[in-house]
Amino acid sequence: KEKKLDFLLDVGCGGGQSVNIFAPYFHEVLAIDPSENQIKEARSQNKFAHVTYKAGFAEKLPCDDVSVDVIIAGASVHWFDRQKFYEEADRVLKPGGRLVMFGYWSPKLVPLGLPGDVTRLSEIGSQLIHDAYLFGAKWNPDVKEVYLLIYNKYTKIFNEIKYAKKLRLNHFTEGKAWSLTDVKGLIQSIDSYEPYMKRSDKSKISEQFVRSLKESWGCTGMENSDVKMKVIFNFFVIVADKP
Ligand SMILES: C[S@@+](CC[C@H](N)C(=O)[O-])C[C@H]1O[C@@H](n2cnc3c(N)ncnc32)[C@H](O)[C@@H]1O
Repeated sequence: KEKKLDFLLDVGCGGGQSVNIFAPYFHEVLAIDPSENQIKEARSQNKFAHVTYKAGFAEKLPCDDVSVDVIIAGASVHWFDRQKFYEEADRVLKPGGRLVMFGYWSPKLVPLGLPGDVTRLSEIGSQLIHDAYLFGAKWNPDVKEVYLLIYNKYTKIFNEIKYAKKLRLNHFTEGKAWSLTDVKGLIQSIDSYEPYMKRSDKSKISEQFVRSLKESWGCTGMENSDVKMKVIFNFFVIVADKP
């Protein structure tokens, strides 16, 4: 926070969620994603003159050698061809430059304003969303590896990093006050559902989750938008420095 760094590269930037957090600490930011739709969405929301969004892949970073201070990959590295990405990251990072990769698993759900034992209801709700997250892995062996990487908090990814100076931070949490409508949207946006969606009706998983949650929280008569809860995400973070 004391001194701005020159150049941040966000790989797999999606709609720019992480860029918005990191951008104030850099003079220049390049954010890439292979999805033209995501780039379009991110550009339309962009609030920073020094941020550029463009289509690009982790395996072929659109940067000069030794030009980047920090690379971030938020909830995205598990989709990359990681060996190619690590080689590219090593090529573009300056000496002392930093590679930061982070992700999160299913959040904890804490009901707000409902009668009953909050701890118990929270345990049940958190288990239900955890099961919804696991669904893709059970169904499709292709995404199972991706799920395992996330489920194990990127342990494998941490071990793959060759830089000697590296560390893991697992204590970051972020709480959001959401309704059941938002949580249903979260389940529908999990990228591992894409393969499932191609062959089946993805809304069923989220519908099933909504039904089970309302039954166990005793609020079947309420609209989804009226069922309020605190949604707590726990982030696991890997920080590695190029020598
Ligand atoms: C869950 S989104 C993460 C969005 C954002 N970084 C964040 O922090 O929330 C994962 C993103 O990874 C992108 N992605 C998948 N494969 C990629 C690749 N090979 N190179 C770069 N990005 C990739 C997807 O298009 C998607 O937008």
